[in-house]
Amino acid sequence: MSNTMWGGRFASGPAAIMEKINTSIDFDWHLYRQDIAASKAHAEMLAEQGIIAADDARKIAHGLDTILSEIGSGKFQFKRELEDIHMNVEARLAELIGSAAGRLHTARSRNDQVATDFRLWVRARIDDIDGLLSDYQLALAERALEHAATVMPGFTHLQTAQPVTFGHHLLAYVEMAARDRNRLAGARARLNDSPLGAAALAGTSFPIDRAMTAEALDFDGPMANSLDAVSDRDFVLETLSAAAIASIHLSRFAEEIVIWTSPLVGLIKLSDKFTTGSSIMPQKRNPDAAELVRAKTGRVVGVLNQMLMVMKGLPLAYQKDMQEDKEGTIDALDALALSIDAMTGMVRDMQPEVTRMRDAAGAGYATATDLADWLVRTLKMPFREAHHVTGRIVARAAELNRPLHQLPLDEMKKIEPKITQAVFDVLSVERSVTSRTSYGGTAPKNVRAQAKRWLKLLERERG
Ligand code: ARG
Repeated sequence: MSNTMWGGRFASGPAAIMEKINTSIDFDWHLYRQDIAASKAHAEMLAEQGIIAADDARKIAHGLDTILSEIGSGKFQFKRELEDIHMNVEARLAELIGSAAGRLHTARSRNDQVATDFRLWVRARIDDIDGLLSDYQLALAERALEHAATVMPGFTHLQTAQPVTFGHHLLAYVEMAARDRNRLAGARARLNDSPLGAAALAGTSFPIDRAMTAEALDFDGPMANSLDAVSDRDFVLETLSAAAIASIHLSRFAEEIVIWTSPLVGLIKLSDKFTTGSSIMPQKRNPDAAELVRAKTGRVVGVLNQMLMVMKGLPLAYQKDMQEDKEGTIDALDALALSIDAMTGMVRDMQPEVTRMRDAAGAGYATATDLADWLVRTLKMPFREAHHVTGRIVARAAELNRPLHQLPLDEMKKIEPKITQAVFDVLSVERSVTSRTSYGGTAPKNVRAQAKRWLKLLERERG
């Protein structure tokens, strides 16, 4: 049988393989709330403009509400032969209210319908993800305040560089998440115009009110060009780019969790809640959640790539290629949401091994820069010369197999006679971090102030 929605000129139905490649209901059913909201707004506008009878609009609205609850409660029978969410809803509407259902599609097309639905869906998902990122930031800021003075090694090249505080390290991720939220907010602001009423591609001859439907759906206004409205998916690309960058941030932290929980490193512990065992090696505690966050980044970046390729070279206006935007985007944003939640869970769960962190911060001559700075400040040595002298002192300490703060003063004096006992004031890891009070630096008092600033901001936005 030919399709009842568009089959007027078709004598036979599609080949099975045609139906299989054409159908999108398996994933675009996710858009049912948005599809129904947009249809209700459209029907109400049609009645307001005298394009359909008020009585028909009422029947349509009532029928759509019924469908919303049918889908919500799992009673709705989605049909592959009806292709997509739009036609599944409309066909059910016809069953429920009869011929008035056929008036709903006046002055619109599935092209503006799907563009509208998907903008609404992406907008809602951005709002969810923003909330999850806010929870993640809150967890990080709380732990940062708790560990504002917990000393750990800071790394460059994954080599011990200078002591920092654990709180400072956590706050770095709060800052990244803030920019991620900002990028998503930018994408949200730019996607928030309504394609509805652009119809197939050229607009319509009916006297529709596009501003009215835009307002009903909380858009800022109608999109000004009907060709653009139905055929661009830059809002998908932009949201996925922001999502990809956010995932990359999460995966960097996830990688640190994997490294830090390794027995070789042992800077933090995750509890039983966030580790798994091995089926063969009874001693294992694997940081699977962190590994999966690291891996899920591949999905998000992969879908961004996929969609860039789908859109590349597509002529105006609507092309069926664009139907491929939903499956991956839905999956990618789900993966991101799950990853953020898992990271928030691990941030709340992780326990720093405070003694191990402090010892590791002191190992590897992490206060060598403090010694060089002392030579500059106290002996007025040029920094380059101080760097050289310090290098020789570090080499001597290494020969004697001692940390800098346990190297006897006369050993230092053999290299630089003007060094005094006062130098030991700067060689401890605590002194090192406390001294780094420049704006953005790791000193516990800075970290405390920054953590409190974030907590206040986050608590305010959360109401
Ligand atoms: N399922 C389609 C999509 O996701 C809806 C639009 C179909 N439009 C058309 N002219 N076939 O893109």
